[in-house]
Amino acid sequence: MKKLLELMSEQFEKAFSDCGYDKKYAKVTVSNRPDLCEYQCNGAMAAAKEYKKAPFIIAEEITAKLAGNDMFEMVEMVKPGFINIVISQSFLAAYAEEMINTEKLGFAHSENPKTIVIDYGGANVAKPLHVGHLRPAIIGESIKRIRRFVGDTVIGDVHLGDWGLQMGLIIEQLHSEQPELPYFDESYTDDFPSEPPFTIDDLEKIYPAASARAKEDAAFKERAHTATLKLQEGYAPYRALWKHILNVSVIDLKKNYEKLNVSFDLWKGESDAEVYIPDMIHNFIESGFAHESQGALIIDVEEENDTKTIPPCIIKKSDGASLYATSDLATIIQRTQDYHPDEIIYITDNRQEMHFTQIFRVARKAGLCPDTKLIFLGNGTMNGKDGRPFKTREGGVMRLEELIASICAAVYDKIMDNRTVSDDEAKKVSEIVGLAALKYGDLSNQASKDYMFDIERFASFEGNTGPYILYTIVRIKSILEKYEAAGNDLNGEDEHINTVQTDAEKALIMEAVRFNSMIEAAYSELAPHRVCAYVYDLSNEFNKFYHETSIMGETDKKRQAGFISLLKLIKRILETSIDLLGLSAPERM
Ligand code: ARG
Repeated sequence: MKKLLELMSEQFEKAFSDCGYDKKYAKVTVSNRPDLCEYQCNGAMAAAKEYKKAPFIIAEEITAKLAGNDMFEMVEMVKPGFINIVISQSFLAAYAEEMINTEKLGFAHSENPKTIVIDYGGANVAKPLHVGHLRPAIIGESIKRIRRFVGDTVIGDVHLGDWGLQMGLIIEQLHSEQPELPYFDESYTDDFPSEPPFTIDDLEKIYPAASARAKEDAAFKERAHTATLKLQEGYAPYRALWKHILNVSVIDLKKNYEKLNVSFDLWKGESDAEVYIPDMIHNFIESGFAHESQGALIIDVEEENDTKTIPPCIIKKSDGASLYATSDLATIIQRTQDYHPDEIIYITDNRQEMHFTQIFRVARKAGLCPDTKLIFLGNGTMNGKDGRPFKTREGGVMRLEELIASICAAVYDKIMDNRTVSDDEAKKVSEIVGLAALKYGDLSNQASKDYMFDIERFASFEGNTGPYILYTIVRIKSILEKYEAAGNDLNGEDEHINTVQTDAEKALIMEAVRFNSMIEAAYSELAPHRVCAYVYDLSNEFNKFYHETSIMGETDKKRQAGFISLLKLIKRILETSIDLLGLSAPERM
């Protein structure tokens, strides 16, 4: 379906052309004076210059042309030459009815769907997921869903950190804790055990211990470096041990992402890019891009118009080890070969911006992916009330599980205050609503900005929060249930939107019909916060309408059926929208 503003603009274009003016002046926009009108067209003001006429004369000609057009209830010239517009209730109703009958609520499937890779998990093997991984996961999941809704083929990749120094640290720590393991016996020639020598709980202790030790014990750190290098060079015992670390860790990571309702199509990692590295480096050297500097291999990426220094990209360290950048570049080669994506979107903390500037420049210079747009979407941090990155009460990094549990507990208390459901149900519901509180609290902010984690506010059933949106959906569900319980057919043939509308009813429908233009903006701006702002506005309009309208008490059956169709439409829009955010609504709360 065309957008409502497009349809209105088309009528204006015809009027402008018919009156002998360029139709480029005919753009209709949402009114910035809602007290005076709903939409407006300011084109006569601009046309006045070209045609050397007073703007009000042009505006009058246009309004005269549009008189009697049944799309509008009012088209009025206001001096010095504005045109104020009120849309007709019957046209609005017809448009909303058409939405009901389209698969995507009036959104037209993309005409040139793209293939894109979204790189958005970024979890590191053998380290528990913590709050720092929250934002990329929930923002990425939402962008994936929005892109898919529009029609793109989307490949979501977690891109595990499974290849760096943390691997060497763990290997060396294990070495000192369990020296008897066959992985540390150079004379061992049998197959390595298929059972891992540790559990996830062990692993979660090993890494912090190793990382703390490396800060104090230089010799240990050096050994960890050597182990990392040996692993990267293919030393079989370490590869075998690494596989165990990976397997044990991935099972746990999957569980945790599932709790967030975040999922990936690919569970690839930095290590998967490894095979592409030797050829890539060879080509970098051959073609003269890369050069040696203090034993390391680097590529200069500074450009003439840079306003700040962009340091060279280090491809290989002097000890021969590859780096984060090396594996990201090799991953570009791998993704280009495997998927020929039109875009690769990276979602990580803002602090990685420099890294991505460097690798995008190398990729461009070296022609690694000439047909692929590389996009970095940096996210701000989630801060505590002190304005610093969120910490546990003890000052440590909070694990994601703990964070989710704390917000679910806050929601549980709120649900129990209302006492509309049993304790058991309250527990289940609080998990759904708590997650929504957390995710919505995050997604409603522009991704690049920092925000403050405020459990009280996020868990509140009022205001711009996840629970408020879910509560609105639950409210609609309960009215529909009542309607059905009163002996009416919810799925009857007569789906219609009332053509005579109250102000609140009209305002609600006007918000509903914005769905397709909202999706377009959220899509092109990679902006889940647009979806949040929309569901909030729509929920507000719905609740106003609900308070002013006696739906169950309406005695005109046809009019009541019109209300019900409208409710069903609003419910569908809200449910579709929150699904794009990765949330769902319970039956009751
Ligand atoms: N594992 C990285 C981290 O924790 C994030 C990975 C982001 N994706 C990428 N292609 N570099 O910082």
